[in-house]
Amino acid sequence: MPELLQIGGITEAMKTRLDAVFDIQRAPGETITHIVTNGHDGVPPDVMAACPNLQMISCYGVGYDAIDTSEAVRRGVMVTHTPNVLNNEVATTAVMLMLACYRELLRDDAYVRSGDWAAHGNAPLTRSADNQTIGILGLGRIGQAIADKLAPWSPTILYHSRSPKDVPFEYVGDLVEMARRSDVLICITPGGPSTHKIVNADVLNALGSQGTLINVSRGSVVDEAVLVKALTSGALGWAGLDVFEHDPQVPQELRDLPNTVLLPHVGSATVETRAAMGALTVDNLLQHVQDGTVLTAVPECAAM
Ligand code: NAP
Ligand code: 8YV
Repeated sequence: MPELLQIGGITEAMKTRLDAVFDIQRAPGETITHIVTNGHDGVPPDVMAACPNLQMISCYGVGYDAIDTSEAVRRGVMVTHTPNVLNNEVATTAVMLMLACYRELLRDDAYVRSGDWAAHGNAPLTRSADNQTIGILGLGRIGQAIADKLAPWSPTILYHSRSPKDVPFEYVGDLVEMARRSDVLICITPGGPSTHKIVNADVLNALGSQGTLINVSRGSVVDEAVLVKALTSGALGWAGLDVFEHDPQVPQELRDLPNTVLLPHVGSATVETRAAMGALTVDNLLQHVQDGTVLTAVPECAAM
């Protein structure tokens, strides 16, 4: 049986299918030919180096910034991920965060639970999420699904990415300019060096005191220290965050602020979507063992 290194958790359904084909190991070594991992744990460089006969890495997630794909390609190691099957779920998470910020879901829930409603009367009014200008940073597979899901709120959609796409939305080449024109900025790019802290002080100040930041991409995309300052001073209005610079560590300041809605990186974390992601993660591994091909290679490995 080929030997599979398991990094991080897998579901029972994944384990059952993998056990039938692989001898699953928890430590790297010369006999490992395949790795199953996830977007958070990736494959540490010392682990890749300790598996000289590695042929393939299957990532249980679409984001693979924790895997050094240049090194994988150099070693002839195929890397796969799970695009598309999670688009709708992550889009739901982004819309949910936006609505929770606009309609003060957490504040008003607390108002009922504390008894303040009965004691002090109606809660303060909130803001309507209808007819907003929404800037999407990264109009890829999930970004497009977010735009689709927002349609009932009649938004004006702007987007920023490295290049314009063939879509019916306005491309804004300058991120600060897009933030200035937007009521909401939704981040859904990959992580990694090219997006590292691109949401900086200039972007957050441009989004402004009535602006809302939603981050369902990676914590590395936003300058978290600057974000805390902006939310504390009122330079930025609200933030709905699923990801943080040092997941699962979340700065106490963010946790104390009333104008944040915080989630523990659950963008894709429903039973249904994780089942689809798990199935694709395993399908890639089994097909590779069977005939050396895969279903969903990361772009860097597509030509291998
Ligand atoms: P995708 O289809 O590859 O889309 C990525 C988008 O980001 C593209 O529009 C791309 O446009 C843009 N982009 C890439 N680098 C950029 C840069 N330096 N500056 C500006 N724009 C840039 O990826 P996807 O499937 O939508 O997934 C996006 C990311 O979402 C994943 O990589 C992952 O980090 C995150 N994610 C998070 C969760 C969660 O649980 N919160 C779940 C799933 C995914 P160009 O090609 O024109 O640059
Ligand atoms: C997962 C994600 O939480 O797909 C991604 O990029 O961030 C999430 O779907 C992550 O991959 C861990 O499994």
